Parts: sequence; C-alpha cells; structure tokens
Amino acid sequence: MTRASLDKQPHEVASMFDDVAANYDLTNDVLSLGQARLWRKEVAKAVDARPAQKILDLAAGTATSSQPFARAGAYVVPCDFSIGMLQVGKKRHPWMPFTAGDATKLPFKDDTFDAVTISFGLRNVQDTDSALREMYRVTKPGGRVVICEFSQPTWTPFRTVYTEYLMRALPPVARAVSSNPDAYVYLAESIRSWPDQPALAARLQKAGWSNVAWRNLTGGVVALHRGTK
Ligand SMILES: C[S@@+](CC[C@H](N)C(=O)[O-])C[C@H]1O[C@@H](n2cnc3c(N)ncnc32)[C@H](O)[C@@H]1O
Repeated sequence: MTRASLDKQPHEVASMFDDVAANYDLTNDVLSLGQARLWRKEVAKAVDARPAQKILDLAAGTATSSQPFARAGAYVVPCDFSIGMLQVGKKRHPWMPFTAGDATKLPFKDDTFDAVTISFGLRNVQDTDSALREMYRVTKPGGRVVICEFSQPTWTPFRTVYTEYLMRALPPVARAVSSNPDAYVYLAESIRSWPDQPALAARLQKAGWSNVAWRNLTGGVVALHRGTK
C-alpha cells in the first residue's frame, strides 16, 4: 500500500489514489460526516455550469465531483493522473470523456474551457503554482476557475478542536473504513501544511487570475476560491 509523503512525489500520489479508488467515495462520505455532499452543491453553484459549456474537472478522480456539471447540461471532461481512480469512474459513468493527465502539464490546448474546477485535488499536486498557471492557460478569456479545498477554520477554538479531530480521530476511523488507512494520515498532514485562505488567493493572483475571492464553508474547514481569466 502506498502512502504519499509531504513532498508529494507524483508517482506516490497517483499510486496512493490507485489503492484507495474502490472505496474512495464511501470513505469520503463517512469521514466528512456527510459534509462532502453539501460542499459539492456549493461548488456546483459557484461553477454555474450552463448547457453546452465546456468544463474541465481537474483531479476529478472517480468523477463524483463532475456529476453536477453534467446534470446541468455542460460538456464535462474529468481529468486525473490516477488510472485506478479513472477506471472506477469509467465503470460508473461510461459515457464521460475521462482523460488521463497531469495537472502541471495539461493535455489541452490554450483557451479551451469556459470553466476549470478542482475539488480536493490541488493540495495533492506537487507544484501548486504550475497547476494554477496550466489551469489559466486552458481557460478561455473571460472564463472562470473554482477551487474547492480544505482550509483553515476561522474561529480559533473551533480550529483547535478540528485540528485535534483531524490528527487523532481520522487515522483510527480510516482504519475501520478505508482500504489504505495510511492515505488518511497523509490527508491530515497535507491539510495542516496547506496555505490558508489569503495565501492561496495570493497564489491564484500570481498565476494570472483576476477578481480572486473566496468563501468559507463549514466555518472554513473548506474554502471555495474563485477567479476569472
Ligand atoms: C481527493 S481526490 C479528489 C477527487 C474528486 N475531485 C473529488 O472531489 O472526489 C484527489 C485526486 O487528485 C488527483 N491528483 C493529484 N495530483 C494530481 C496531478 N498532478 N494531476 C492530476 N491529478 C492529480 C489524484 O489522483 C486524486 O484522484
């Protein structure tokens, strides 16, 4: 079983997700205490996909995150570099154009998509800034980006409790429900070392995005960052 470390070597990250692919969605629901569904609804609202628009769901995994855009009538491309996650997704949604690709070297032409979105993926990419630049490159001028990622709870007492929950409760719960509990030790560590809301916004701006803003969900456990090209 593979467990990525905080240097996020791409082959380790991809094979860690290959290992958890079969149980990935179930484990997500359990560990997020059902909040994952609520977060996905908010992502759908922020992306605001329209019929016939082209949407890139980057680090889409099994494409659970892609479904709201497809339901809205958009043409959605789920892209990921874990073949295991893509295979589970393809079995569930055979009609979707699953694409193998690395977020830092996207296999798409410039100015292709009306919107690019990434849910719980950017934190796992080794070179965040080059992924943000690639997302910018493949977005049409005037198009939008929406990033859904774990972040920092804003209320200090809650932040403390949450950090304790993460570090102490996550691995034992994961041991009960996941095929690769060590992957959830990585999850906890990677959340703790991820930039907070203003720091991620600054990196979006540095990559070229305009009108950058964010909204906190569940008190800042998750943040939705957005921007336009
Ligand atoms: C936590 S899963 C999120 C899946 C999906 N977006 C969701 O919300 O359920 C993170 C995904 O990011 C993918 N990933 C990580 N680094 C990547 C990279 N550099 N390029 C493409 N995909 C990547 C992993 O393979 C994994 O499927």
